[in-house]
Amino acid sequence: MKSTSFFYALVSSTWAFPVMDDPETAQIARDLLRHYQPRDLSQDPLGISRAQTNCGPTPCTTFDAADQLVSVTGQNAYQSPAASDIRGPCPGLNAAANHGYLPRNGIATIEQTVSGLQALHNMQPALATALSEYAIATDGNVLEEVWSIGGPLPADYLVEGLLGTGQGFSYSHNAYEGDASIGRNDAYTNAGDAHSLNITKFERVYALGGTEDRYTLDKFRARFEAVQDESIANNPYYFTGAFSTVVVEEPSDYLDGYNFKSFFGVTGEPGNFTWIRGQERVPEQWYRRPTSDQNTAPDVFVDVGIGYAAYPNTLKFGGNTGTPNSFVGLDVANLTGGVYNAADLFNGDNLACFSYNILQEGIPDFLSDILNDITPVTSFINKYVGPIVGGLNCTQIEGQSTGLFNDFPGYKYSPSGPDTNY
Ligand code: HEM
Repeated sequence: MKSTSFFYALVSSTWAFPVMDDPETAQIARDLLRHYQPRDLSQDPLGISRAQTNCGPTPCTTFDAADQLVSVTGQNAYQSPAASDIRGPCPGLNAAANHGYLPRNGIATIEQTVSGLQALHNMQPALATALSEYAIATDGNVLEEVWSIGGPLPADYLVEGLLGTGQGFSYSHNAYEGDASIGRNDAYTNAGDAHSLNITKFERVYALGGTEDRYTLDKFRARFEAVQDESIANNPYYFTGAFSTVVVEEPSDYLDGYNFKSFFGVTGEPGNFTWIRGQERVPEQWYRRPTSDQNTAPDVFVDVGIGYAAYPNTLKFGGNTGTPNSFVGLDVANLTGGVYNAADLFNGDNLACFSYNILQEGIPDFLSDILNDITPVTSFINKYVGPIVGGLNCTQIEGQSTGLFNDFPGYKYSPSGPDTNY
């Protein structure tokens, strides 16, 4: 099947912090934000979301088949994972590993992540670097600088003095993995398993394609609002911290049902869909973004802003208090000692500054339950993420308190998993 689409998604915008890794990138991000804010976004946020091209905030204007065609042959031929290989909650990463764009065992270094996601999606190296650093810091191994796209790192990576939890993405609850996914269950309501596809949820998101058989960012955003409401109504431990589980999907040109199923490892038709674990696949004739227009952290960051502005109910901090439908929201102003409020969160660098602060303060909180000494983790984060903040125009937040999250049972809930899984 011929498709000129590419499909790019990122999740759990705790990563929204790594927006600017150098002054030039920071400036691009500011320019983009100014372009949309505050006037444009406040005037017609839903219109902007609906009108957005599938290429993200900056439309792709060129198409070069030779540059963009993704190889699915030779060393990038599809192979189902071996029993010992690791796959996890992210279809994009699972497919990358099944095609050798990431190591087929599901354990990657920063360099492997950068080169693989550039080859497959034309993800900007700075973005892939920041994402893998955060994965290493929160649920990988900071000594060996590796992370797992799914379950816990195997024993040989868990060298003495494990740093980071080593639990992998599948069990990175509230760090990467978050409640209210478009295709997965909340960990708490599924015995800790937030990585297996829930075929009923898939059926509902698939239906968004409609008779025109097309998926857009805006459709996924609307669905995200609905799944968030469903989680609040059903999961007593529902929790949303910094910006959990924001799914940004950007099919350039188009994403149709055929490709959507391929990336999700699903076969069959509505009513009889089947998901077989570990079979996520890059479709034939799949085109990545142009190399001249890579997917950058600022793009993602602006997308997150557009999504929240268009669907303001999705901008939530807080959680249920132990029973379904008991959601208590925390005020941005309270979380930041009054430095920011919900209205100005999308101005300038505010969102990035706020995210970074939550990241810095939040990690020790949830890791300290598991690790005796979190100093190596915080110094790893400061080493890699610290310079990013140098490029930001942040007001010092004195009273920011992620301690307020402690009142929510879902914040402390920390499932752990089997040795290997997919
Ligand atoms: C380094 C890059 C990436 C990271 C760190 C990452 C991480 C994640 C994580 C942790 C989840 C689970 C979130 C949750 O349900 O709580 C997830 C879900 C998802 N990811 Fe990725 N991802 C990356 C790249 C990609 C790419 C390149 C694609 C697409 C080509 C993609 C598509 C998706 C989709 C569609 C979901 C939602 C799955 C569902 O709810 O069923 N991701 N990702």
